[in-house]
Amino acid sequence: MALASALSEPTGRTVPSSTARSIEGFMHGLAPHWHARWAWENYELTILALARQFGLRRICEIGGGRDPLFTAEEARGHGLDLIVNDIDAGELALTPAGLRTAHFDIAGDLREPDAVRGGYDLMVSRMVFEHVHDVERAWTNIHALLAPGGVALAFFPTLWAPVFALNHILPESASRAIVHALYPARRDGGGDPKFPALYDWCRGSRARLAPMLQRAGFSDIHVQPFWGHDYFKRMPGLREIDHAFNAGAARIGWDFVTTHAYVVVRKAGG
Ligand SMILES: C[S@@+](CC[C@H](N)C(=O)[O-])C[C@H]1O[C@@H](n2cnc3c(N)ncnc32)[C@H](O)[C@@H]1O
Repeated sequence: MALASALSEPTGRTVPSSTARSIEGFMHGLAPHWHARWAWENYELTILALARQFGLRRICEIGGGRDPLFTAEEARGHGLDLIVNDIDAGELALTPAGLRTAHFDIAGDLREPDAVRGGYDLMVSRMVFEHVHDVERAWTNIHALLAPGGVALAFFPTLWAPVFALNHILPESASRAIVHALYPARRDGGGDPKFPALYDWCRGSRARLAPMLQRAGFSDIHVQPFWGHDYFKRMPGLREIDHAFNAGAARIGWDFVTTHAYVVVRKAGG
């Protein structure tokens, strides 16, 4: 890991820091593993490292709803001013106490009073973009909502990983039934509901995403592809075949079949 130094956060984990000036250089310095497990395990740490590296304090979590990144206390402990966005007022009603909320559609017209142009240094999202109806519009809005020099990170599942392709192709009622059978907590009224997935622009290929992100206003762009998932962890045989497929795809960089991606962009200026 080509990191200049490492700093400890209150949890005892290590927040990497680097001397990189571009998003590309910063992400390269983190040396992400190819498996998507790295993306899940290092999401918070990557955000803290970005905040530290680029001096970002006002953070908006898009689609944070009932399950935001940090509690109010944790955000304060990290020196962050966290505001939780969601399109769904019902989700925001479940946001833990003490956190500020902002009710607007990230792919809407930004006319809602809660959408403050230039108001955020860092905008992040986890498992949200696959549900957004117009992702190019969302990125254009993110560009407008970021302050100059601001950074955005979106972590989402991608097509055409076979598991997500199936979710995409099956009618919503069928994919919902499968998810509810496998994960009871995701049944209606459970603590982790299933939202319809659209997968607009949810790809792990830089070549595919960069022109769209440039149209949205960004030039400092990084797309980090990941392969692999844990859906088959209780299915011996299928699990090994799937792992071999993903490991092989990662080895040759076949980004048509990524399972997840981080898209990280920085607005010019600042
Ligand atoms: C699968 S949940 C993810 C919640 C949380 N980020 C997590 O990782 O557990 C997706 C969330 O995105 C929100 N969402 C979907 N479309 C949105 C949009 N266009 N603008 C803002 N939030 C949106 C949903 O209401 C929901 O709370």
